[in-house]
Amino acid sequence: MNDISNPIISDFKINEDLVWQMSRAEKYSLIEILRSLKPEVSLEIGTYMGGSLQVLSKFSSSVYSIDISGEPEKFLKNTFKNVKFLKGKSKELINPTISKIIESNNKLEFILIDGDHSKNGVKNDLNEILKFKYKNPLTIILHDSFNPSCRRGIKSIDYKNFPNVEYIDLDYVSGSFSPNDDYREMWGGFCIIKINPESTKVAKVNSSQNELYKSSYLLSVHLLKDIFFFLKPLKRLVYNLLGIRKKQDVYFNFNK
Ligand SMILES: C[S@@+](CC[C@H](N)C(=O)[O-])C[C@H]1O[C@@H](n2cnc3c(N)ncnc32)[C@H](O)[C@@H]1O
Repeated sequence: MNDISNPIISDFKINEDLVWQMSRAEKYSLIEILRSLKPEVSLEIGTYMGGSLQVLSKFSSSVYSIDISGEPEKFLKNTFKNVKFLKGKSKELINPTISKIIESNNKLEFILIDGDHSKNGVKNDLNEILKFKYKNPLTIILHDSFNPSCRRGIKSIDYKNFPNVEYIDLDYVSGSFSPNDDYREMWGGFCIIKINPESTKVAKVNSSQNELYKSSYLLSVHLLKDIFFFLKPLKRLVYNLLGIRKKQDVYFNFNK
């Protein structure tokens, strides 16, 4: 009824066995961005069931895909021959992975960030990526830039430290309100960050749909969650006592 992800009309043949946690608009955009860029090397943070990875794998010569869970590699290693799966926290793996790519004189031309969506998680991932000096243009897409925590992480970066960042838009693709079964939650959206080694000016953080973002936030559960943030430890305690699973648990065991 309320499916924002399907159907897709495209000559890109989607493998329906691979759950792809993106909206139709995001899927079309990711396919077209990668079809145009044809990256030499791509990096993905947040593999899950390989939905987005199928696009990176198709249009890149090689891909590194990082996930905190070991499930994706078990599930996908026979599907993608040009992908190296890395298991661990992104904040620990981004630096050695990008160092290795640059030292081998390969061009990292595309990054999809879709892992830890907390403010600090996004901030750490971005800081780790932006501190490198790239010799070639690099396109970064951050998924879920419409989610308040994720958006705060992107906005918390001090972009004046990174003059090679040429362009940023938090709403390159607009996000969604109450998508699928997530009642009054704000998810989705693509933020784009373009890195150009020639650029020397400090980039402005554009948010081309900020009015939509602000109106949605006032009606969202995120406003209440932010007001009652101090009760979070109590909620965790009650959930543990009642044996209620956290939403993120789905990423650690695909069979449950
Ligand atoms: C939203 S899913 C990725 C969806 C996928 N990109 C797609 O479009 O279908 C997020 C993934 O990030 C992983 N993840 C969460 N926190 C992480 C972290 N700190 N480091 C690496 N991976 C993380 C989760 O295990 C999960 O598989």
